[in-house]
Amino acid sequence: MTSVEPRVAIDGPAGAGKSTVSRKVAEALGYLLLDTGALYRSIALAARAAGHAWVDQDAVSELARGIAARDGIRFEPSASGAPRLLLDGKDVSTAIRTQEIAEGASQVSAIPGVRDALLELQRSVARAGGVVLEGRDIGTVVLPDAEAKFYLTASIGVRAERRFQELLGRGEQPVLADVERDVRQRDARDTMRPVAPLRQATDAILVDSTNMSIVEVVSEIVARVRAVRDMLASEKTR
Ligand code: DC
Repeated sequence: MTSVEPRVAIDGPAGAGKSTVSRKVAEALGYLLLDTGALYRSIALAARAAGHAWVDQDAVSELARGIAARDGIRFEPSASGAPRLLLDGKDVSTAIRTQEIAEGASQVSAIPGVRDALLELQRSVARAGGVVLEGRDIGTVVLPDAEAKFYLTASIGVRAERRFQELLGRGEQPVLADVERDVRQRDARDTMRPVAPLRQATDAILVDSTNMSIVEVVSEIVARVRAVRDMLASEKTR
């Protein structure tokens, strides 16, 4: 690799604060951010629009391969800061954020053909370095040789509460007990699936945010990435 800018992998379960933390880390470092969960959400949305059941492995794999082949998922900068997600040219940034599509994403992401279809896209975004990839299997499967890996987690109660607040903020009317049940179900599915299950890479740094503020989490990760970058730079000049 010629760049000294690390590839940063941030994995962890739903509601650990990954999206916010990853965005702020990418901003602080001036890195590109790829929210890989949005890719699986887009496939779930496209499958529903095409009338395929999320558990229909053949149909959904075929659909994902088609979307990847035609470069059907694109991120476009927007004035609000968060990039817009275009699926076959249509802005689906809001449509992929419902609880229903989160459920669909969890189901389609368990299909090996879907994961395969999205793998190269994720690797090509990361190739030049200076990127943050946020997901479940970045440090273990997508970029096993990433220079900086983090596993961000928090207690189930805290994660459910954060997800609850997030849904409230979007104008939904969630019930906390239901949100907690959904978080548990997604955790179980994400960690127990046979392909690319959610787990901490052996060389990832564990960050438990149960009793940490977003600012503390971000500054810890940014400091560690800077240390890695300095090390890479000094190796290069040696
Ligand atoms: O992070 P998120 O809630 O947007 O992710 C939606 C679903 O996609 C989640 O249930 C797990 C799955 N996912 C995955 O399997 N691998 C990734 N790299 C990212 C997300």
